[in-house]
Amino acid sequence: KKTVEDVELKGRKVLLRADLNVPMSDGEITNDNRIVQALPTIKYVLEQGGRIILFSHLGKVKSEEDKKDKTLQPVAERLAELLDKDVPFVPHTRGDALEQAVDKLEDGELLMFENTRFEDIDGKKESGNDAELGKYWASLGDIFVNDAFGTAHRSHASNVGIGSNIETVSGYLMKKEIDFIGGAIDSPDRPFVAILGGAKVSDKIGVIKNVLDKADKVIIGGGMAYTFLKAQGKEIGNSLLEADKVELAKSLLDEAGDKIVLPSDVVVAEEFDADAKHKTVSVDEIPSDMEGLDIGEDTVTNFKEVLQGARTVVWNGPMGVFEMENFAKGTIGVCRAIAELTDAKTIIGGGDSAAAAMDLGYADDFSHISTGGGASLEYLEGKELPGLSVIDDK
Ligand code: 3PG
Repeated sequence: KKTVEDVELKGRKVLLRADLNVPMSDGEITNDNRIVQALPTIKYVLEQGGRIILFSHLGKVKSEEDKKDKTLQPVAERLAELLDKDVPFVPHTRGDALEQAVDKLEDGELLMFENTRFEDIDGKKESGNDAELGKYWASLGDIFVNDAFGTAHRSHASNVGIGSNIETVSGYLMKKEIDFIGGAIDSPDRPFVAILGGAKVSDKIGVIKNVLDKADKVIIGGGMAYTFLKAQGKEIGNSLLEADKVELAKSLLDEAGDKIVLPSDVVVAEEFDADAKHKTVSVDEIPSDMEGLDIGEDTVTNFKEVLQGARTVVWNGPMGVFEMENFAKGTIGVCRAIAELTDAKTIIGGGDSAAAAMDLGYADDFSHISTGGGASLEYLEGKELPGLSVIDDK
């Protein structure tokens, strides 16, 4: 794919789509990682003398009312701090004010415009990839840099729409995500170990199937492990069970043999509550009136052994209810075990596990932490991502 380094930028109006959909609470940004990860491309284009028109979506916008707390203004302010540079914010998604601001840009300057999903109120123009809207946005610039990996699983006007109209290249973040996640899936250094967690098998079926095809070992923890334990004929008490997925789990276990690694002990609790009475038991002894909320210590040790010597590790999904201290040890243990691997490419596929690694202070110990949630899941499933396909080939 063509990248930002393959094209002339000086004096050109550069439409730069980033995924600046950051978590907010009461108008305050609670995690600015996506803004930080967008900086290398922004800085490079400015250094090259490009004139940046920066934009993103933020949350979902379904009504006029939604607009109030979905403005990108706080993101522009945070970006200005991080860049130590003025980031003029245009509170519109089209029209004279925006066009005039674009015309006034000098080489090495940028502006940001309002949440692209404000265009959804009147007919889902952004998320419905309205052809007229994509064409209009494309008309504002000379070239399109799509750096919004987190949005790459969407076919929206602000990525696919624009890209269908003008020359489109990737930014550094998009390239990094492709190199790490795509690289792990398509041509991993072996042994390749995948660690999958999270509550539901149904959310991860696509990923489980795809990585079973590609990886040497697939470790399964989290809530979804119980459906697999049930498929092995174990009694799982009140643990999370997707009854309609037991047959599928059985056939995956039959096909994969010892490629799938499951927990050997788990932390069980009397109820789903942070202060619930709990204890660690073997998976063969889960009491009928208790539920598993984390993997146990022996399991962490066992998973660690499986990880030894791995050259590629992909982790997606927590090992237990890590928001509750009593049930966080498994996720912390696995996170630490991966972080300590020195000879492996270690990749976190976004979402909860990425947040956990960052909260625990291990962010710098991984080769790559994806900025995608849905996008990295679909990428791990082996699906074609529309936001990626729209980037021109070299
Ligand atoms: C994300 O946070 O996963 C992306 O920004 C996409 O957001 P969406 O799920 O609202 O399309």
